[in-house]
Amino acid sequence: MSAGWNALPETYRWALLAWLGVGMLAFAASLLLRAPYGRHVRSGWGPTLPNRLGWLLMELPVLVVFYAFFLGGSVPKTSVHWVFAGLFTLHYAHRALIFPFRLRTDGKRMPLAVAGMAVLFNLANGYFLGHWLGEWSSGYSAAWMQTPQFLGGLLLFIGGFSLNIWADDRLIHLRKPGETGYRIPRGGLFNYVSCPNHFGEMMEWVGFAVLTAAAPAAVFAAWTVLNVLPRSLAHHRWYREKFPDYPSNRKAVWPFVL
Ligand SMILES: NC(=O)c1ccc[n+]([C@@H]2O[C@H](COP(=O)([O-])OP(=O)(O)OC[C@H]3O[C@@H](n4cnc5c(N)ncnc54)[C@H](OP(=O)(O)O)[C@@H]3O)[C@@H](O)[C@H]2O)c1
Repeated sequence: MSAGWNALPETYRWALLAWLGVGMLAFAASLLLRAPYGRHVRSGWGPTLPNRLGWLLMELPVLVVFYAFFLGGSVPKTSVHWVFAGLFTLHYAHRALIFPFRLRTDGKRMPLAVAGMAVLFNLANGYFLGHWLGEWSSGYSAAWMQTPQFLGGLLLFIGGFSLNIWADDRLIHLRKPGETGYRIPRGGLFNYVSCPNHFGEMMEWVGFAVLTAAAPAAVFAAWTVLNVLPRSLAHHRWYREKFPDYPSNRKAVWPFVL
């Protein structure tokens, strides 16, 4: 298998490390600033656009860039490549084309600046993963898909994906159609953490990093944690401030830990 760090060109490796550094800065900024969309939306962030449109615009470009680099790359595409690409597509097709249309978010808006930053993140991520898969991933044989590492990663990915969708669905249905307010979510993993959807998202991309054993996937998993964790902490604080009867034993995102 040639997906290892040393198989990647030096410029790409430096770019990937720089990209991880940007993720750490973004982590620090979002701890301080609370990304202003969803329940944290507030004025002072410039022009806005409808929530649903924002989600669609934020999440669709990644697939375009990913496939442009993946298909344009010189590596002969095997079943393993298509499984990697298929899992990535599964997540983003859902996030861009299904999730926004399930939201009960009528009338809500998000700052264009937030959507713009998410687009930049997705363009970079699509480039790093697509370029790696299209150009420097020739060493995978079909036997990789029978290794414990691939199967363990796949289990994490599917578990995380399912948890993310289940929890988002539960949250979305706390509102009746036309409602805009918030309620305390309960049941399942919500009894342990405020944001099981975020926990699922992290688990999913850690699983992807494990099943690909590739540096850009590991950096993407790190970016996901750096991106989502501050939002989980902000949601958790917000619940505690808004609901005096909020369950005190609930953690923010990692059961029994944080
Ligand atoms: N990969 C990444 O870097 C990344 C970053 C952020 C988010 N995400 C993913 O994007 C999805 C959405 O994340 P998010 O943080 O925006 O989700 P969220 O705040 O948990 O909200 C999800 C949906 O449910 C509604 N909702 C949430 N809590 C509610 C409550 N207590 N009562 C009534 N309605 C409630 C929200 O309405 P409002 O919009 O009106 O609040 C929204 O429509 C998640 O799957 C998350 O994992 C990924």
